[in-house]
Amino acid sequence: MYKVSIIGLGYVGLSLSTFLASKGIHVWGYDKARWKLESLKKGKLYISEEDLETEFNRAVSNGLFHISEKLEESITHSNITFICVDTPTKEDWRQDYSSIISAAKSIGKILGKLDRYHLIVVKSTLLPESSRKIIIPAIEQESGLLVGRDFGYIYNPEFLREGKALYDLRSPNRIVIGEYDNKSGDIIYAFYKEIYDEKTPIFRMTIENAELLKYVSNVFLSLKISFINLIARVCEKTPNTDINIISEALKTDPRIGPYLQAGIGFGGQCLPKDLKAFISFVEEIGIKSALLREIYFINEEQAIWPINILKQVYHDLKDKVICILGLTFKPNTNDIRNSQSIKIISRLLDEGAVVKIYDPEGLENFLREYYYLPVIPCNSIEKCLEDTDAVIIATDWDEFKLLEPKTFKKLMKTPLIIDGRRIYDVNKFKDDVIYFGVGYHSRPFKTLLEI
Ligand code: UDX
Repeated sequence: MYKVSIIGLGYVGLSLSTFLASKGIHVWGYDKARWKLESLKKGKLYISEEDLETEFNRAVSNGLFHISEKLEESITHSNITFICVDTPTKEDWRQDYSSIISAAKSIGKILGKLDRYHLIVVKSTLLPESSRKIIIPAIEQESGLLVGRDFGYIYNPEFLREGKALYDLRSPNRIVIGEYDNKSGDIIYAFYKEIYDEKTPIFRMTIENAELLKYVSNVFLSLKISFINLIARVCEKTPNTDINIISEALKTDPRIGPYLQAGIGFGGQCLPKDLKAFISFVEEIGIKSALLREIYFINEEQAIWPINILKQVYHDLKDKVICILGLTFKPNTNDIRNSQSIKIISRLLDEGAVVKIYDPEGLENFLREYYYLPVIPCNSIEKCLEDTDAVIIATDWDEFKLLEPKTFKKLMKTPLIIDGRRIYDVNKFKDDVIYFGVGYHSRPFKTLLEI
């Protein structure tokens, strides 16, 4: 019978714990942040994820999800420990392993006192060779045990998307097992075989292959986005072209596939940080990374795209009132980390603009994190649009898609729409407002003088 402890109850850890408990597995979830445990004990989640709060509370009331206040309690109750702590990227683009090293050491101390085999499964993103050179030695040193003999080790990267965490956990497109040895691999393979049907592909490989695969996957996704955004620039300068038309047709080639929506670029907790860490890794081992660096630069420039449009229209942005619709890095989440929106807002403030902001779920996080920025928060789209000189659509929330041209025209001082996510039908908008969209040959249909 599997009993699992999960260390680190962030997006991955909390979603994974809830999912495993929903499968009838006893889970002991631990996080060193007390406020997270307090919040969980009240049945309140600190992350916004589809169905997660309901599923979490169900798992707790079914007696399957145990909120552990002590790491020792969670490890001793379990036979498999998943490590899901974050591995952020430092200022110099290298990985910051302080949290995972500290978790590995604390777990090692406890394992040393246990007189039985235990399997460690790391989900945190780790650069190739980090498991073997850093994490396993940390556990061995603190425990006095030997990997392979006394405890097993698996690197098992997670590919779930924020906002779709439970969905992706229920139907993953693949499971990747990077195994220290056959014994560790066999245990986790059997574990996943019990959870998933035979259609789910399970790949068993070396630890290093699995570590590399996680980066390659996220870097490839960011490559696709920067590629389509580069082509979007071509469209903007080529009459009668439209990136949305190109992308829709392009995606139908199965060799190319989806994930080709042009916009103001990618953000979030994974793609930007993994790209930077991978560039630093690649350069450190002596490989040229011009292609990878270009992915990064295109993404940085993409955040400036709305500012360039504004300057084309107004030249000077001082005292211009700009409405930003969307703060989160993508819709259906309250996560604002590394959102392109933040770069746009900072730049507008530097230019002397007055910035009004609205987001259906991310406003609270934004105001907590960026309390020092002199922005005007609004609690509705309408309030945010009122008396503004332009609006930038920075996140493709469904509620923004429903807006009609007449609403912009009625509320704004000048109905200048900068559609950073290409959510509007150009033909519907062309007569009433000044419209610019990413990847659209945006000679505005109406100019400022005509409106
Ligand atoms: C990503 C990966 O998809 C996931 O597999 C990995 O485990 C973690 O990183 P996530 O960060 O949740 O997941 O976001 P995702 O939905 O992939 O979007 C990332 C960013 O790219 C968002 O800012 C989104 O707006 C942008 N994006 C995505 C595009 O600009 N165009 C696209 O076609 C897709």
